[in-house]
Amino acid sequence: MPPPANDPLVLALPKGRILDEVRPLLHRVGIEPEPAFDDPKSRALSFGTNLPFVQIIRVRSFDVATFVAFGAAQLGVCGNDVLMEFDYPEIYAPLDLGIGRCRIAVAEPVEMVAKDDPSRWSHVRVATKYPEITKRHFAARGVQAECIKLNGAMELAPSLGLSQRIVDLVSSGATLKANGLVEIEHIADITSRLIVNRAALKTRHPEIQNWVDRFRDATNAA
Ligand code: PRP
Repeated sequence: MPPPANDPLVLALPKGRILDEVRPLLHRVGIEPEPAFDDPKSRALSFGTNLPFVQIIRVRSFDVATFVAFGAAQLGVCGNDVLMEFDYPEIYAPLDLGIGRCRIAVAEPVEMVAKDDPSRWSHVRVATKYPEITKRHFAARGVQAECIKLNGAMELAPSLGLSQRIVDLVSSGATLKANGLVEIEHIADITSRLIVNRAALKTRHPEIQNWVDRFRDATNAA
């Protein structure tokens, strides 16, 4: 382990179910967060670890990319859905961690599927957290997508008349099913990546490269 830099290394992790998969990975790379990290009642957002020079922050997955892009965190874990949506030039994503596997897909109400013909669409209205991915997906075949930006619960949009279609993450498919929706187009497979601030990789190279190598070894060992 190289000697620590003066500033602590900040690792940004996403809230939510992905954290269950990140947790064993942390253990394998030798990072043990303070007990509050695993306490569901804790309102803390920043956590110390067994390593005095490593600090963890827990934020929304979109915000992991923002913290890392602006150099407020040097390392992070986020899905390639986030990287595809924002395409931050300051972020380098050297490692697919193979966790958080899901897909991003177009879905519509089950009763629409039989009479719908996607090859005839020229314009679609879509509720989504991913307007850029959605517009690119449809533009590639000459379809104009009008996106209504939501931050969650996209599956409600069709039944309440906000839009007939949604673009969202699908994992087990249970949320679509519970809301009467069917996946009709696959856009991309998603996994979580280790991301690095490019400037920090240059200025703190041995330290950050060491962490990338550790995460790679831990991922290969899983
Ligand atoms: C995600 C996604 C879907 C759901 C899909 O939301 O937006 O709603 O998971 O998973 P499933 O196919 O296994 O049902 P999440 O629960 O992560 O919460 P969010 O809406 O806050 O993103």
